[in-house]
Amino acid sequence: MAEHIVVSAQDRILTLRLDRPEKKNALTRGMYLGMIEALKQAEADSNVRVVLITGTEMCFTAGNDLMDFANAKPGETSPAILYLQTLAAAQKPVMAAVGGVAVGIGTTMLLHCDLVYAAPDARFQLPFVNLGLCPEAGSSALLAARELGIVNAVVAGNELLSAAAAKARQLAEKPPSALRTTKALLKRGSAAIIADAMTKETEQFAALLQGPEAREAMMAFMQRRKADFSQF
Ligand code: COA
Repeated sequence: MAEHIVVSAQDRILTLRLDRPEKKNALTRGMYLGMIEALKQAEADSNVRVVLITGTEMCFTAGNDLMDFANAKPGETSPAILYLQTLAAAQKPVMAAVGGVAVGIGTTMLLHCDLVYAAPDARFQLPFVNLGLCPEAGSSALLAARELGIVNAVVAGNELLSAAAAKARQLAEKPPSALRTTKALLKRGSAAIIADAMTKETEQFAALLQGPEAREAMMAFMQRRKADFSQF
């Protein structure tokens, strides 16, 4: 299994825990590939009924690793896009438990989860424009539609993971075909809109990522200074 991703199966729940605390669980290429593998494993394994994505109670994820963003090669499909596509295509219910920061894809991936539990200190941030980028993950279409509905419930920080696991167990006990069919029906209205938004976003995002504004934003983060966009 990939470095910094801990996958465990219990009670018919596949839990996928982001585990890179020294970098606030920032997501590397390898971590996306690990998550894709885990999601595929969950779909293929009839013993798995529910997927639960977590970080720690203190930190969900600081989003895409900015070093990986800075090193992205023109024209290559990013594993982040493949991860989002795999997540969006999941047929089994996917849950997330979010404490602390959920930056960028840390927030947009939640739009593709079926149930999201958050701790009171959860902080959702979409700094795409500040980074010289644009929305991703269908969020330009999905966020407008969901507004404040990203989170299903807020639970005390020290109970976050146990509350999410208890809910996941409830889901895992339900009739699996009925659950998957219901999920597919709930998503059918928005599927085409999301696919269209994701295609257009991916094109623009990739172009902006190679541009001077994103380069300045990433350099500024690494050098711990304020980004300066005055020359553009
Ligand atoms: N990519 C790579 N490294 C990251 C990172 C990221 N997205 N987010 C945090 N880190 C690293 C920091 O560089 C730092 O590493 P260091 O200790 O080797 O210097 C470490 O994680 C801790 O981060 P720090 O900024 O000191 O923690 P904080 O609690 O003060 O702030 C955040 C947390 C998440 C608010 C802040 O780190 C941040 O804004 N990160 C960038 C988020 C971002 O823009 N993500 C991309 C979204 S598209």
